[in-house]
Amino acid sequence: MECGMNGTEVGVAVIGAGRAGLLHAANFAGRVPGSRLIGLADPAPGSREAAGQRFPAARVEGDYAVLLRDPQVGAVVIAAPTRAHAQIAVAAARAGRHILCEKPMAMTQPECDAMIDAAARHDVRLQIGFMRRFDARFAAAKQKIERGEIGDLVLVKSLTHGPSTPRRWQYDIGASNGALAEVNSHDIDTLRWFTGSEFEQVYAMAGNFRCPEARTAFPAFYDNVVMTASFRNGMQGFIGGALSVGYGYDARVEALGARGVLFVGQPPERTSVAGAHEAGSPPPRSWRDLFRDAYLAQDTDFVACIQSGRPPRVTGFDGKMAVAVVEAGNRSIREGRPIRLCGERTHESGAVIRP
Ligand SMILES: NC(=O)c1ccc[n+]([C@@H]2O[C@H](COP(=O)([O-])OP(=O)(O)OC[C@H]3O[C@@H](n4cnc5c(N)ncnc54)[C@H](O)[C@@H]3O)[C@@H](O)[C@H]2O)c1
Repeated sequence: MECGMNGTEVGVAVIGAGRAGLLHAANFAGRVPGSRLIGLADPAPGSREAAGQRFPAARVEGDYAVLLRDPQVGAVVIAAPTRAHAQIAVAAARAGRHILCEKPMAMTQPECDAMIDAAARHDVRLQIGFMRRFDARFAAAKQKIERGEIGDLVLVKSLTHGPSTPRRWQYDIGASNGALAEVNSHDIDTLRWFTGSEFEQVYAMAGNFRCPEARTAFPAFYDNVVMTASFRNGMQGFIGGALSVGYGYDARVEALGARGVLFVGQPPERTSVAGAHEAGSPPPRSWRDLFRDAYLAQDTDFVACIQSGRPPRVTGFDGKMAVAVVEAGNRSIREGRPIRLCGERTHESGAVIRP
């Protein structure tokens, strides 16, 4: 029997017990059919204590390598900070554990290549956490585009605004890749998914408007970004990103076709959300509220992939292409000019075919 499989049940370890990790853990601790939460790993004592209290039946370890050696563990969810994703994923693949890795996949494209190669070599699934692909509203919009309901697709606009003040490490663009990575990876993936094409060129501009405390020590930090894009199939794209907006979590897409338009996400009913007295329902406070069902559908599909042996719906190649766009966007901000992306094609396995 395959390691970490009890019959067809998949034992799951969650690596990184922060905001995203605890959401995954709650899914695998009873909500995802055919799976069982075996343990969580986190080097921070406070995170371990919170995880232990919330999941008393699970092992809680400081070192994820301990969980990779547990024969009950068949799969891992990587929800540690992005800079640790590649190292953990390669170790998990070498240990023969299937991988669901949170977005952004990694910090650089070579890191993504190492993850894709390790998963292929050790014959494990590698899925990236673009859970919007499992959101019913996003999936319905994609189907309508494919059915031609708005005619030929011309332009996809996608924005994500997050409410919270960045964590200190996020101020350092070298350590975080900035809001384009942490916030807009989802928008980048949605544009690739809806257009069915790859980014050809991006032009981004950014600034720091809401985080004065970071201006002196981190002059490259930005809390607001806009990016225009062209695609290889001729379509156009626009991405907006904002951190620290305070008013709530805001994720919206508009797809404009030759014969119509499609909206995903609830446009705010109020013209202003600053005044508490105004009527209308407030935007969700967090991505955890807006995408809870999508997270569950994503985690459920990951287990189904392992059980059936079929490839994941969101592959390592999808993760790598988003990282490539983040890198190009950040370069465009630094150099103040449009950046062309060099073309890559891929096998279904995620392996890259060099042009
Ligand atoms: N899909 C989404 O919409 C979504 C939402 C939030 C976060 N994320 C992603 O999930 C990841 C984690 O983000 P978060 O907001 O949960 O962060 P967080 O800071 O809340 O939690 C991260 C946890 O990882 C732990 N950690 C640090 N180094 C580790 C290591 N080497 N091994 C194991 N654990 C380690 C930290 O102690 C912390 O408890 C990031 O890549 C982030 O981009 C995705």
